[in-house]
Amino acid sequence: MKDSLLNSLEALQQDFQNILPQMTDEIRLQEIKAQFLGKKGRLTEVLKEMGRLSGEERPQVGAKANEVKNFIEGRVDEALQRLKSDSLNKALSQDLFDATLPGRPELRGHIHPVHQTLVMVRNIFEKLGFQTHYGPEIEDDYHNFEALNIPVHHPARDLQDTFYLQGKDWLLRTHTSTVQIHVMENQKPPFRMIAPGTVYRSDSDVTHTPMFHQIEGLWIDQDTSFGDLKGVLSLFVKQMFGSTIEVRFRPSYFPFTEPSAELDMTCLFCRGQAKACPVCKSTGWIEVLGCGMVDPEVFRFVKYDPEKYSGFAFGIGIERLAMLKFGINDLRKFFENDVRFLRQF
Ligand code: DAH
Repeated sequence: MKDSLLNSLEALQQDFQNILPQMTDEIRLQEIKAQFLGKKGRLTEVLKEMGRLSGEERPQVGAKANEVKNFIEGRVDEALQRLKSDSLNKALSQDLFDATLPGRPELRGHIHPVHQTLVMVRNIFEKLGFQTHYGPEIEDDYHNFEALNIPVHHPARDLQDTFYLQGKDWLLRTHTSTVQIHVMENQKPPFRMIAPGTVYRSDSDVTHTPMFHQIEGLWIDQDTSFGDLKGVLSLFVKQMFGSTIEVRFRPSYFPFTEPSAELDMTCLFCRGQAKACPVCKSTGWIEVLGCGMVDPEVFRFVKYDPEKYSGFAFGIGIERLAMLKFGINDLRKFFENDVRFLRQF
C-alpha cells in the first residue's frame, strides 16, 4: 500500500512536469492547478488513501506528499509571475500603456475644524509661555472631582452627567480641569500650562454631544492677580477674533476657582448691535469661557502653600469656539465627518 502511494505521487509529479509547458495562459494555468491541487485534484485523491496506511508508514508518505505539493505550488507561482510580467511587457511594447496619462488623484485628508481651532488656541498661549500638557481620559474620582474641590454630594457633580466605569471607581473625565491636578502634583510653581483634550458627558441634544473638546489653562506664580487673568484672556480673545472685539467678565461660580467668572465677547454676528440676533439672543454678547482664581482648597490638595502662591485657571470649549470662528451653526456637524462639510474649512 505504502509503495503504491509513493509511486502514485512520483507519477503525479512526473505528469505535472510533463504538462508544465502548457501553462501559457492564465486560464490553462488555473485548470492545471485545479487538476493537481484542487479539492477533487489528483493529490487530494492520493491523500484520501493515506487513511489506510499504518501509523509508521503514514509520515513517510505524508512527507513525500508535502514535497510534491510544494513543488507544484512553486511551479504554479513561478508561471503566474512570468505570465503577469509577460503581459505587461507585451502591453508596453505594443504601446497600450500611455505613460503620459494623468495619474488617479490621491484623495487627501483634511484637518478637522475642531483640531484647527485647537491649534490656533495653542499657538496663542504658547507665545505667552504656556506649555502644553496632556492627561488621561480615563480618570479617578479624585482627579475629576475631589481635588478640584467637588466633594461627594456636592451639587456641582450633578451638573456634569458623568460616564462611570467599573462601579464608580473610574470615569471618563468630564472636563480637562483634571490635568491641572496632575501637573500640580508633578511640578513646582511657577509655571503656565494649557491642556487640550477630549472630555465626555452623558448628554446629547442640539447643543450637546457626549464627547467634545476643551482647553484648560493654569498660570501659577507668586502674586498672580485677577488683573493678570483679565489681561491674558482679553489678549487671547483679541488674537483669536480680532482687536476690535470687546470682552467683559461676568461673575459666576466654579468649585475650583474663587472668585469665578465667565468671559463674554462682542457677538460676532450682530457686532454687538443686539437687535434681532438669534446667536446672542439680542444681548450683544456671547459666552466664551469660564475662569477664576484658583481656590486655596485646590492648593491644599496638591500641597502648594496658598499663602505663597496664587494662580488663575480657565476652561475653553473648543467646539463652541470653532463654531464662532468658522460660523458653523450646528454642533453635530463636527461629528458626522461628512467630508463635504470638513473640506470647507
Ligand atoms: N471645568 C469647567 C467645565 O468643564 C470649565 C472651567 C471653568 C475650567 C472655570 C476652569 C475654570 O479652569 O477656571 O465646565
